[in-house]
Amino acid sequence: MELNRRTVIAGAAAAGVAATTLGTGTAQAAAGSGKPVKELFGKLADGTKVYRWSLENGGTRLKVLSYGGIVQSLEIPDRHGRHANVVNGFDNVDDYVAKSPYFGALIGRYGNRIGKGQFTLDGKSYQLSVNDGVNSLHGGAKGFDKHVWDVEPFTRGSDVGLHLHYTSVDGEMGYPGTLRTKVTYTLNRHGEWRIDYEATTDKPTIVNLTSHVYWNLAGEGSGTVEDHELRIAASRYTPTDAGLIPTGELAKVAGTPFDFRHAKPIGRDIRAGHEQQVQAKGYDHNWALDKGITAKPEHVATLRDPRSGRTLKIATDQPGLQFYSGNFLDGTLTGTGGRTYRQGDALCLETQHFPDSPNHANFPSTVLRPGQTYRTTTIHTFGA
Ligand code: BGC
Repeated sequence: MELNRRTVIAGAAAAGVAATTLGTGTAQAAAGSGKPVKELFGKLADGTKVYRWSLENGGTRLKVLSYGGIVQSLEIPDRHGRHANVVNGFDNVDDYVAKSPYFGALIGRYGNRIGKGQFTLDGKSYQLSVNDGVNSLHGGAKGFDKHVWDVEPFTRGSDVGLHLHYTSVDGEMGYPGTLRTKVTYTLNRHGEWRIDYEATTDKPTIVNLTSHVYWNLAGEGSGTVEDHELRIAASRYTPTDAGLIPTGELAKVAGTPFDFRHAKPIGRDIRAGHEQQVQAKGYDHNWALDKGITAKPEHVATLRDPRSGRTLKIATDQPGLQFYSGNFLDGTLTGTGGRTYRQGDALCLETQHFPDSPNHANFPSTVLRPGQTYRTTTIHTFGA
């Protein structure tokens, strides 16, 4: 899957957004739960300014870019109260534009892959932008991660946050319907980070939004996450073909390396030689959450770094969770802290609908119709 990196770069180049950087600035969010602070982060090649917003609440410090709604930095304390940035990122716009494997980005219109970039809806066939071999990944060559979003800060009671807006026009990347998207990032006084996604359309379409944060709870660039313990409340996962497209089967995790129903270190079974792992170079699969789709977010996964004591709990209303063990990080990218990221130096936990759902009648539907509002919520709770 070396293809991924190359195709991401090709996508950025095709989008004509080679960028220049103005430096990272020095503004800090005020201590406590002050108003979000805005600073210039850089410029795209066409002169479009990219801003960085800093917010802090309940011990969590978040920095968000207007480009891609990217979480550029997220600091949380360890068991001794020492903060570290626990997400992969870059310190300049150019690297995000040229070579980011979706670090921290908002993903749309469709998280993960759609086989051959094709689907049929109401008897009409659609061809999406293909950017991962023959398949469409994370919305195509210029997905939501490569657009500048309108950002509006807010404070509400003890909450602080940002509303991010992006309108994707009818036909963009091959998707039908104009999709009006609003994503809200909120930090509450307990330091929880909540994401609320909303979208409406003017034509029948498909949608599956997610966030592509790469976590390393010991601190970004600090080495492997194989010692992190992970629990996922799922008895089944969706095996894939060699192109990482689900076969349609819902396979049992019991007796396989995919069993995370009890917390275990990520590295424990990662070299077990299961054909699904060999194919993906590690874990890169969708877990079908036991709770299914729920009206309210429910706790589905816990990640813990035994060294720092930092924990991350994820709650969602979505039916799936993509656990990607950073298999394609290959030591060629240098992150915010000046250290290179190697294979397994971070992991993603993407709350979502199942990959390639439009092509599998047995998967929950991702269809959105005019008059309906797509709404989903994911909550990240931190501890130490
Ligand atoms: C996918 C990986 C892909 C990565 C992009 C993940 O969500 O499952 O296959 O390589 O995103 O960096």
